[in-house]
Amino acid sequence: MTGSPSERLPIGSDADLARVRRRVRQAAAGVGFGLVQQTKLITAASELARNALVHGGGGHVELTRLTDGARRGLRLSFVDTGPGIRDVELALTDGYTSAGGLGLGLSGARRLVQEFSLDSRPGRGTTVTITDWAAGLPSPRTGTP
Ligand SMILES: Nc1ncnc2c1ncn2[C@@H]1O[C@H](COP(=O)(O)OP(=O)(O)OP(=O)(O)O)[C@@H](O)[C@H]1O
Ligand SMILES: [Mg+2]
Repeated sequence: MTGSPSERLPIGSDADLARVRRRVRQAAAGVGFGLVQQTKLITAASELARNALVHGGGGHVELTRLTDGARRGLRLSFVDTGPGIRDVELALTDGYTSAGGLGLGLSGARRLVQEFSLDSRPGRGTTVTITDWAAGLPSPRTGTP
C-alpha cells in the first residue's frame, strides 16, 4: 500500500470546518467514491473536525490518498493537542457527552466509515484516523450465457 504526499488543513475556526468539508468532498470524489460514500465520509469528517475544535481546542487534519493494487482509498487523520480522552470506550458510547452535545459524533463517525482508529493520551491530545476504500471496478462478464 502506498500513500501520496498528504495535505494538511488547520482546524481552528468554523470557517476551517467548512473548508475541511469542502476539501474532503473534492478528495472523495477524486478517489472515485459514489455519492452515498462521499456523504458518509464528509459527515464523519465533519463530526471529527468539530470534536477536534470544540473538545481538543483545535488542531489539523491530514488527507492522504492511498493506493493498494487497484484499490484507491482516502485516509483522514484528525489531530489535536487538547486534554485527550480518558475513557475511550465511554466516549464511543452512543449518547455520551461531556459537553451538553448529543453524544453521537464519535460513535456515529465510527459507523459511517470502513476503518476507524482512535489514539488518545490524557493531557497530550487525540488523533482519530478514518479510512475508506472505493468499490473496485465491477468484475468483467465471463461470457457464459
Ligand atoms: N478530540 C477530542 N478531545 C477530547 N475529548 C473528546 C474529543 N472528541 C470527543 N471527545 C469526548 O467524547 C465525547 C463524545 O464525543 P461525541 O462527538 O460523540 O459527542 P459530543 O461532541 O459531546 O456531542 P455531538 O453529538 O454534538 O458531537 C465528548 O463529549 C468529549 O467528552
Ligand atoms: Mg462531537
